[in-house]
Amino acid sequence: MNGLRIGLFDSGVGGLTVLRRLLERHPGQPCLYLADSARVPYGGRSPLQIRSIAAEVISWLIEQRIDAVVMACNTTNALAYDVATSVANVPVYGLIDSVARTIRWQRVGVLATAATARSGAYADQIRRYRPHAQVHEQGCPQFVPMIEAGRLEDPMLRREAQRYLSPLLASRVEAVLLGCTHYPLLEPLLCELLPDSVALVDPAQALTERLDSLLGRPEVPLHLSTRPRPLDLSGCRFCVTGSPEAFARAAEPWLGTRPMVESVTLRAEARAS
Ligand code: DGL
Repeated sequence: MNGLRIGLFDSGVGGLTVLRRLLERHPGQPCLYLADSARVPYGGRSPLQIRSIAAEVISWLIEQRIDAVVMACNTTNALAYDVATSVANVPVYGLIDSVARTIRWQRVGVLATAATARSGAYADQIRRYRPHAQVHEQGCPQFVPMIEAGRLEDPMLRREAQRYLSPLLASRVEAVLLGCTHYPLLEPLLCELLPDSVALVDPAQALTERLDSLLGRPEVPLHLSTRPRPLDLSGCRFCVTGSPEAFARAAEPWLGTRPMVESVTLRAEARAS
């Protein structure tokens, strides 16, 4: 084992889809996962709020002595990557740049939070590598609140998904990127609604492959899947700013086990008092 500890953060359970891919590729890797669930969702917040949240969350992770930051949240990645790199004294890995460099299609759709879609960050990054790519970014404000509430079977979710996919399909996209880490949890539904010819891409795969340069190449190539199966969580610590019970309950289906979760307070004023 490389002895490094990776700090990951998200507003809630979404970043677990990144943690899952990381642990599938690097079993037993020590990780600290912070869910800022007291402030979920991030996607409806202003750029200023998102930047100040990112600074606070990353400062807290750095205080916990981690060796690298994984922004397991596209919204902060889109609006505050520069904040992250200026606050962190360790390497910072983002999803957007990681996947942008692997894009091989001409017409690409992105499903994302409203804030990420508005920022245009996916289009900007993809065009750095493919200047003529057509990128259609679709904000999906209903997804995160419904996923956090565990409403995966709610018929409204299907209707919303159809509504969000329709402009992308009208633009004849060849691939749809899951531009929010909560969305891989909707993969079965999205696969059902998309024609087979449209690729569904989880940026976490490109990010975890990029982490090989820090963590070393995995000894055994693993089939990556978002379906629950036993993961080695022995080196993981889970912290939340909201309810530990609610997070542990929501995390269980995605980790295959109910994690031990600690409650933490981030706000600078609370830490000082
Ligand atoms: N899962 C995060 C993302 O990738 C944040 C979603 C939210 O809190 O709105 O954007």
